[in-house]
Amino acid sequence: MNPISPYWKDRKVVVTGAAGLVGSHLCDLLVEGGADVLAVDDLSKGVFERLAHLEGRLRFARADLCVPGAAEQLFQGQQVILHLASRAYGIAYSVGHHEEMLRFNVDLNRKVLAACAAARVERVLAVSSSCVYPDDAPCPTPELPVNTGEPEKANRGYGQAKRELEIEATRLARDTGIGVAIVRPCNAYSGRYKWEGEYSHVIPMLVKRVMEGEEPLVVWGTGRQRRNFLHAVDFSRCFLAVTEHHAKADPVNVGYEETVTMEELARAIGEAAGRKLTIRFDPSKPEGRLVKSADSTKLRRVTGGITPTIPLGEGIREMIEWYSRTFPAQA
Ligand SMILES: NC(=O)c1ccc[n+]([C@@H]2O[C@H](COP(=O)([O-])OP(=O)(O)OC[C@H]3O[C@@H](n4cnc5c(N)ncnc54)[C@H](O)[C@@H]3O)[C@@H](O)[C@H]2O)c1
Repeated sequence: MNPISPYWKDRKVVVTGAAGLVGSHLCDLLVEGGADVLAVDDLSKGVFERLAHLEGRLRFARADLCVPGAAEQLFQGQQVILHLASRAYGIAYSVGHHEEMLRFNVDLNRKVLAACAAARVERVLAVSSSCVYPDDAPCPTPELPVNTGEPEKANRGYGQAKRELEIEATRLARDTGIGVAIVRPCNAYSGRYKWEGEYSHVIPMLVKRVMEGEEPLVVWGTGRQRRNFLHAVDFSRCFLAVTEHHAKADPVNVGYEETVTMEELARAIGEAAGRKLTIRFDPSKPEGRLVKSADSTKLRRVTGGITPTIPLGEGIREMIEWYSRTFPAQA
């Protein structure tokens, strides 16, 4: 594992959503870097097993941050709050649950930010999303102002909640002088994925179908939609670097210009699994924006040139191992 900056050594850091996909990798990096970590999660979606190997090296609090007063109590005496907790699922769920995603996430984010102010912490990371960008944003997408057009249609509720998080986090910085970092990540994956059935994200979904020999393999949409994928370890490295170097209430993309189409992704998975695929595209299913990729100019500038450490090919092999661990009977 690449070491993180000495900035984090002995720093008192809270990670909200710590038992989540990205949060657990972030905790690994922080613990290795000598930070004093309080990991918080209500385990509504996260799983403690993702943190079990760190037992004794961090403190874990199972707490619902939507409960009034919970965040205030946990944040007392802490220096940095890395706020990752959120309700987020794949596109199949998001597309039919806009109101729920909006209301739940706005409430959660408000309580967390108010608690940051009350505890007078030094620094906060607000994790937004590339879903704040409108469907007609240019690609690769630069850091457009938060109120540009409407958030991505397929994730409208979730994207609007992330917009409001950015606006309130900016207000927090202005009113209190707390250093606020804001990141807008693209798509993460990792071998710590928890299967969510039909609501799962695209990489684990395709890996499972390929490994189970689906014939033909059905790919949602036209197969021509392009995405940038980043391993959750690389997400986490970017989150830490932006928090350290750019706590200026100024959003930074976490993602890069390179994209793969869903068809290329499916074929790469098939190749890594040693399976010959016949693919059928299903345009009746939602596919989101045709292209999503991030202009990484600002990310590279503010972090001194951070680049991914885990290429997609290596990540796909990790996901095939994930499948064998998660569904041992079928593997
Ligand atoms: N994974 C991606 O591709 C992606 C892309 C863009 C943005 N993001 C954002 O990055 C962050 C981390 O993403 P992730 O993939 O690890 O998400 P995740 O869903 O795996 O983790 C979120 C965690 O928050 C916890 N949580 C939810 N509500 C809570 C509450 N009320 N109190 C305490 N904990 C609560 C869940 O149990 C879960 O463990 C999220 O804010 C997400 O919106 C993720």
